[in-house]
Amino acid sequence: MKKDSLIYVAGHSGLVGSAIIRKLRLDGYSNLLIAERNELDLINQEETLDFFKKYKPEYVFLSAAKVGGILANKMYPAEFIFENLMIELNIIQSAYLSGVKKLLFLGSSCIYPKFAEQPIKEESLLTGSLEPTNDAYAIAKIAGIKMCQAYAKQYGVNYISAMPTNLYGINDNFDLYNSHVLPAMIRKFHEAKIVNSESVTLWGTGSPFREFLFVDDLADACTFLLKNYDNPDIINVGTGKDISIKELAELIRKIIGFEGNINWDTSKPDGTPRKLLDVGKIHELGWRNRTDLETGIRLTYDWYIKHQAI
Ligand SMILES: NC(=O)c1ccc[n+]([C@@H]2O[C@H](COP(=O)([O-])OP(=O)(O)OC[C@H]3O[C@@H](n4cnc5c(N)ncnc54)[C@H](OP(=O)(O)O)[C@@H]3O)[C@@H](O)[C@H]2O)c1
Repeated sequence: MKKDSLIYVAGHSGLVGSAIIRKLRLDGYSNLLIAERNELDLINQEETLDFFKKYKPEYVFLSAAKVGGILANKMYPAEFIFENLMIELNIIQSAYLSGVKKLLFLGSSCIYPKFAEQPIKEESLLTGSLEPTNDAYAIAKIAGIKMCQAYAKQYGVNYISAMPTNLYGINDNFDLYNSHVLPAMIRKFHEAKIVNSESVTLWGTGSPFREFLFVDDLADACTFLLKNYDNPDIINVGTGKDISIKELAELIRKIIGFEGNINWDTSKPDGTPRKLLDVGKIHELGWRNRTDLETGIRLTYDWYIKHQAI
């Protein structure tokens, strides 16, 4: 990838896409291609193909997707499977037809079986049944991986797939109904602090363990993989460390400075007890994450206060 190569970041306004744009700009890549949704709806096959044929990007980061938390995934499975499949089909086929040199597809750790052995190795893919609450989304993501592999096999193209763990950071979604656990906690503790609330209620028992990666570290991994990884086999991207939801809540409470109590609503589900990716493969290639969890949460909270907080 040269400094003036034309690079298309699909989903540039999202959590991941905006971090990839920041990273590329920081590294001196100046020829970046983006399109707002009102100019290019990636669900539309004709519009997507026309866009690729018109601009002929050399490299593509496929970070556009319909993404949401447990509630949204449970309520709108049809939209999750349809929109994600369409975006993948349209971008991957258009990339092939317009001669893209290399494409990075972003999957997710939810593609792995619900009861996969921990930490989860890449080889666990398709060895068991999925978590039912987001299986529509996961199936669409697995289809994206298989599509990249099929195109690599039949057409000899260089399309790779990275599987990030749970992400958080600048530009996150803090909507209480549609967000992931970490930004939702930031918002709850912040709002409780502002109104001097005595307590904050969080879902579940707090006992499950989860892994969190700062999104700018993911962006760093994405550019690293685009330069250094030429294999259609999937590759995990994470920290290799997990934390209990209870410890996470305490950490966020400390960073925000909320002094009230934390109540755990144990009538709400916990989800899988542990979800940690095995990151041995990307470590072997020479990549490691840099931002520790506390620093990443502080940066995210600063951003939230400046841009979204009440
Ligand atoms: N967030 C996580 O914790 C996480 C973890 C693992 C993997 N990932 C993966 O990373 C990728 C990006 O996730 P994210 O968290 O960055 O999501 P996000 O913040 O919701 O961003 C999604 C992006 O896709 C765009 N998009 C969606 N549908 C579109 C359409 N029909 N036409 C054009 N653009 C469309 C959105 O544009 P608008 O601004 O117009 O909506 C937005 O720019 C996904 O593949 C996801 O599976 C995310």
